[in-house]
Amino acid sequence: MTNRPWWHDATGYALYLRSFADGTGDGVGDLPGVIDHLDHLEYLGIDLLWISPFYRSPMVDGGYDVTDHTEIDPTYGTMADFKALIRQAHARRIAVVIDLVANHTSAEHSWFQAARTSREDRFHDRYIWADPAPDGGPPNNWVSYFGGSAWTFEAAIGQYYLHLFLPEQPDLNWRNPAVRQMFDDIIEFWLDLGVDGFRIDVAQGLVKDRLLRSNPVLHVLRPAADRIEQWRAFEHRHDVLQPETIDIFRRWKAICHRYDAVLIGEVSVGDANAFAFAMDSGGLDIGMWLEVMHSEWDADALRSVLSGPIERKGDAGMVGWLGSSLDEPRAVTRFGGGEVGRRRALALATLLAFLPGTPFLYQGEELGLEQGEVCDDNRVDPVGIDAASGRDGCRTPMPWTNGPMHGFTTANETWLPFAADAGTMSVQSQRRNHRSQLARYRCLLAARRAQLVDADPTVEWLDFEEVGLIGFRRGVLNVIVNTTNEVVEIGIHGQIVFDSFGLLDRRVGLPSSPGVVRARIEGSQAIVFRGV
Ligand code: BGC
Repeated sequence: MTNRPWWHDATGYALYLRSFADGTGDGVGDLPGVIDHLDHLEYLGIDLLWISPFYRSPMVDGGYDVTDHTEIDPTYGTMADFKALIRQAHARRIAVVIDLVANHTSAEHSWFQAARTSREDRFHDRYIWADPAPDGGPPNNWVSYFGGSAWTFEAAIGQYYLHLFLPEQPDLNWRNPAVRQMFDDIIEFWLDLGVDGFRIDVAQGLVKDRLLRSNPVLHVLRPAADRIEQWRAFEHRHDVLQPETIDIFRRWKAICHRYDAVLIGEVSVGDANAFAFAMDSGGLDIGMWLEVMHSEWDADALRSVLSGPIERKGDAGMVGWLGSSLDEPRAVTRFGGGEVGRRRALALATLLAFLPGTPFLYQGEELGLEQGEVCDDNRVDPVGIDAASGRDGCRTPMPWTNGPMHGFTTANETWLPFAADAGTMSVQSQRRNHRSQLARYRCLLAARRAQLVDADPTVEWLDFEEVGLIGFRRGVLNVIVNTTNEVVEIGIHGQIVFDSFGLLDRRVGLPSSPGVVRARIEGSQAIVFRGV
């Protein structure tokens, strides 16, 4: 027995509630739907479930615009459903982590409704307001993650308010003690109901520069620059990662640890040094590093994006690894789509599963789902000027069965259409096939669980003569991925414990003949072996 916290070896699952399963027959995923399918998570080998927001919301940003942080939105169920979910997940030894949307509220939140009426209102200072610049324009050059200025003018009181996302998501003022107190209360409310932790949304963004100084400009913007280019045109010195943010993490972590709960933060920064700063001084138990989702399928690019956060952050917290998410195109599609995309996505998942830290599968990843095509008439995401840059494609509903509406709902329509591959990729058909993507993910997670107990946390990257291989060693464990399309022959010593193609062990006769073996690693294949 060790004294490590329970989340130390956990495998996470990122569940996008609207698209997981509909238990009430209205075409939208909900809490009863999650309860109905907990067996899937148990079968897969998940121990930590992170659920996207289910709070009262006008749903302008899919629920990341909250009007009441302690109420369940009727679209998603009731408090009784939530309690049942906690009970039933715990009965299956699955921890439940909920989203803490703390950077902003909905503009319809009662606080903001009051705050916008007058500069003297007692809620005014719970948001970030500033007078116009001398030319009447926004107070500084900050841009929204969703594109355009981060400021909207409130004519009634002659001031601008800040929103790092939509104008319907005004940013809270984390320098105001009343805001801190309110979130302490929200956290305790859910911990008392039995949740096992929080995933802080936009953790890097909470506190802003006291003087609201403009950010240094890195590039001059093209007029047609999309939201990502706009964001990257600035050095985000003043709008994100202010040192006071770490104090908030520490404060929340102290509360969480009283309940043996985990504090996870979404740390959406492109740079490993900035990530290390957010992890500094033990602020977060787990920091989600999102840059893997921006890497090409290339051994050097992957090595740099995987090694950066581990090397820089030292001993502070753990890295949360995501190969796909609710906000980014799915890995299968990013890596070329079809069978090749699926093999590459699984190989990436293998690297993430064996690196020190916590891997999070994004719902549907275990099925090898591709990005869905959502035509203009069906688009829901407020972000992106076209279907390609919006986030609907990674949020299409889960296909559970081969029956009507893929077992997702009893309604005739779903809130977003199914992806084109839903028919062939359902859970039902994959569970019947021991060579399916689902079977391989299950096997991967079982291997992680079996092999990583007490594994050496130190990662030693392997240097290969062969081009296109990426790999690392942790104690006796070795993980190697061939990113090329060609077979590569390498000498390995040891016993295979996971093979993403599930054939290698038979072909080379391992583990019965440990010793130097010339093993073929095919294009996009991942192998994990214990060295001798
Ligand atoms: C969430 C997004 C959301 C944004 C604003 C993100 O990090 O993952 O889906 O739109 O925060 O709350």
